Amino acid sequence: MMANDRQAVQQALLDALIGFILDHGHRDVQPFKEDLQNWGKDWVDVPPAHLPAKEWLVRLAASASPDSERMFRLFEQHCDDLCWEQSYTREDGVVGEDMLRAYGFTEIVGKQGPFLSERVRSGIGVWGPHITYPIHRHRAEEVYIVLAGSAVFTVGDRPVREHGRGEVVHVQSMMPHGFRTREDPLVICYLWRNGDLREISTFDVP
Ligand SMILES: [Fe+2]
Repeated sequence: MMANDRQAVQQALLDALIGFILDHGHRDVQPFKEDLQNWGKDWVDVPPAHLPAKEWLVRLAASASPDSERMFRLFEQHCDDLCWEQSYTREDGVVGEDMLRAYGFTEIVGKQGPFLSERVRSGIGVWGPHITYPIHRHRAEEVYIVLAGSAVFTVGDRPVREHGRGEVVHVQSMMPHGFRTREDPLVICYLWRNGDLREISTFDVP
């Protein structure tokens, strides 16, 4: 795929993502709407990179929440054209082999593009079954919108509980948070604002 074809695909994904967020009624999603509408329109070419995690996106496409179905299908359709990333490496020693094997995210807007923004970060994250994402924290405020599957979330002092598709998990700045998947994988739309949008999280020492 040539760069200008990639730009057209990423523009379609961006439009679907904005549409999904702007239509979202949850109160914790509201502050992100203004950021999303006012970000820069600059595009940089982010060539594809592959991770096994994208297979879970394909497998879960049929069980996406109704409001995310259109966007989800578009990500599924173009998953081989996207750049799949991980924030952590084996050398960092902060997350386990379970996570490195079957997790990944693809970003549509943020500090490194493909649509450049210093104000808001958003994309799709995927975790396979039986993964623990250890407790960590970062300056940015974060919202996870569960699109498919489920996980058991720990956020600050709130009771540990499972969140499934359609649910929203809000994480305030520097609030410790983490989750674990069980039999189900997890697909989320993530949003970050008010912070270094590529800050590497700090992990609590076990
Ligand atoms: Fe986070």
